Amino acid sequence: MDRLVIKGKADLKGSIKIKGSKNSALPIMVSALLSKNTLKLKNLPKLDDIKNMSKLLRSYGAIIKANKDNLEIKCHNVINRDADYDIVRKMRASILILGPLLARFGNARISLPGGCAIGTRPIDIHLDGLKKLGANFVVENGYVIGEVSKQLHGNNIALPFPSVGATENILMAASIAKGKTIIENAAMEPEISDLAITLNKMGAKIKIEKKGVIKINGVKSLSKASHKIMSDRIVAGTFVIAAVMLNKKFLVKEIESSHIAALTSALIKMGAKLKINKNSIQIMPSKSLNGIKIQTAPYPGFPTDLQAQIMSLMSLANSNSQIKENIFENRFMHVPELNRLGAKIIVKKDIAHIVGNRNFKGAQVMASDLRASVSLVLAALCAEGESVINRIYHLDRGYERIENTLGKLGPSIKRQKY
Ligand code: UD1
Repeated sequence: MDRLVIKGKADLKGSIKIKGSKNSALPIMVSALLSKNTLKLKNLPKLDDIKNMSKLLRSYGAIIKANKDNLEIKCHNVINRDADYDIVRKMRASILILGPLLARFGNARISLPGGCAIGTRPIDIHLDGLKKLGANFVVENGYVIGEVSKQLHGNNIALPFPSVGATENILMAASIAKGKTIIENAAMEPEISDLAITLNKMGAKIKIEKKGVIKINGVKSLSKASHKIMSDRIVAGTFVIAAVMLNKKFLVKEIESSHIAALTSALIKMGAKLKINKNSIQIMPSKSLNGIKIQTAPYPGFPTDLQAQIMSLMSLANSNSQIKENIFENRFMHVPELNRLGAKIIVKKDIAHIVGNRNFKGAQVMASDLRASVSLVLAALCAEGESVINRIYHLDRGYERIENTLGKLGPSIKRQKY
């Protein structure tokens, strides 16, 4: 396994370009399964999850050509088979192949997915939505087995919660189902729009309306298309927080700033100095930061994927803060590790109380889930002395080798095998 050795009180200078979004790329890669024609994708991040998704699609017979940051996926002669347990176990996004396989073949068999251990993360909303389109499911020996009697058909589906994955699964399946589908209370995350844009380029007829309504007119088949993956708003937000924590002048560029408006308004409320342009954010040193109260919520609310990072920052504010986590029930696993680094955070049910005015001190810590891992990196960069972050494979699922990105801009971040 790998670990990171990070020197604290780090410098940070210059700028960073943000690459394509993992959470946008994964469903878009899966959407290639809906068509016999080639899908050309640009601006893919170099991440383990992208490699895993390529492996999963290849196991179905997809032909994938990778060239630098680009991928060409052709699913002409795909074969339907059990999804590879070893990949599905590592990556929850594997469940996204369910809708496309049912739409294209009429049956699918996938082991129950894994991914980050941030709660029970059931798939009932995915299954109930696909049932409304005409699929039937049984769950047997850890596998979800789905079947469609004739062809998937459009329907009105009101989601009990705006699940991102369920919205994507239903959206893909409904694109080639017979007739019209309306998804109500759909997730409105920018990644959903990126998927809908790609599907429409392939010939789908999808209209995203305001207030969580998506209308889809099913088409018979999809054609070839080409798409540039949108910039990763969570990676962008993480690096903005890094610069605020280190209190340095820094530029985060090639982003869609509006996608992280909930973060930037929270940071401004705390006293951070930001110059926000459409496609970049300039961070300037600020005199001091004060504590605030936030809660995570579906887009456009504060993203759960930036909760751990802002918690790290809140420890440095000059007054106390509070975070209520509304999306996942077990997403405070970074708290004991941040406390090892010198934070004082107390969790009561779904609320974390963050004591301000803390100084991080170098320590050995253990990374738990993807965003938790990076919150420890942020704290370590600000700490006095050296920190060792063990078990960083989750970090590599979501951040391109951080020693080569942030690590090239001032901080000393070294990777070691252990
Ligand atoms: C996606 C993101 C993840 C992000 C999350 C919320 C990807 C690959 N991952 O995950 O980074 O943290 O959105 O923004 O895009 N739920 C159910 N039943 C379901 C589905 C979900 O109860 O069938 C619950 C989950 O347990 C969770 C909440 O709904 O508590 C949100 O989950 P969801 O929006 O589906 O997240 P993911 O798509 O898994």
